[in-house]
Amino acid sequence: MIVFENVTKEFPNGTVALLEVSFHIEPGEFVFIIGPSGAGKTTLLRLLLRELKPTSGTVQVDKRDLSEIKKRELPILRRQIGAVFQDYKLIDDRTVAENVALVSEIIKQNEEEIDEHVKEILSQVGLEDKADLFPSQLSGGELQRTTIARALAAHPKIIFADEPTGNLDAATSWEIINLLLMINKADTTVIVATHNQDIMQSLDKRVIELEKGRVVRDTKKPRQKKPKAETEKEKTKPAKQKDEKKKK
Ligand SMILES: Nc1ncnc2c1ncn2[C@@H]1O[C@H](COP(=O)(O)OP(=O)(O)O)[C@@H](O)[C@H]1O
Ligand SMILES: [Mg+2]
Repeated sequence: MIVFENVTKEFPNGTVALLEVSFHIEPGEFVFIIGPSGAGKTTLLRLLLRELKPTSGTVQVDKRDLSEIKKRELPILRRQIGAVFQDYKLIDDRTVAENVALVSEIIKQNEEEIDEHVKEILSQVGLEDKADLFPSQLSGGELQRTTIARALAAHPKIIFADEPTGNLDAATSWEIINLLLMINKADTTVIVATHNQDIMQSLDKRVIELEKGRVVRDTKKPRQKKPKAETEKEKTKPAKQKDEKKKK
């Protein structure tokens, strides 16, 4: 689903943020991207959102090379990837419900549908009681839940949370991670960039570690690949069925 192939990103000032980075992330995975500040984690997210283009190498989402995506197609790409930021990036003079509704408005639902949709998402993240509050009236954990709700509003295939627990205490951090795990169980691919070692070490999830822009560790488990026998079987299936499989 997500493919980085030999991706190097050098900024105009000469800083090399990523160097020959390669990995594949399959649909439904939960992956930690770890590494100290400056390792290149946010640059990965910005490449996925096509806010940046690689200097060399390719980034693909669902087999589409992002460097070939036209400007007018960018909103479609960005709706597929729900971004959650450490500093929330909420709109201060809009309520929780309005912040979440903005995305639904963009995807042109009618008012009733939007109300229903926002209610449903807020209850999913445990914020049904906070719908009419403004960001300044929320705790850090509630702010982060709001940004997750906003990310979910467009029904993304992927959630990329960039240091979602960076401003939170340990207990609240776990609440947010548990919420992301729950979202992952509902079949959304979840990528969490973090330097929270405690959380990463207590969960048996794939870890991609960056150091100065290079991948120095990837714990991708071989069992996530399809066994050969299954691949053979698929080859003998009628073509139509095969196509349906691909679409998923
Ligand atoms: N727009 C930019 N121009 C120049 N250098 C940048 C820019 N954005 C990020 N960098 C540099 O790229 C490196 C990786 O940054 P970043 O991806 O933000 O790391 P992380 O999110 O892991 O802290 C850092 O050295 C950072 O200073
Ligand atoms: Mg960062």
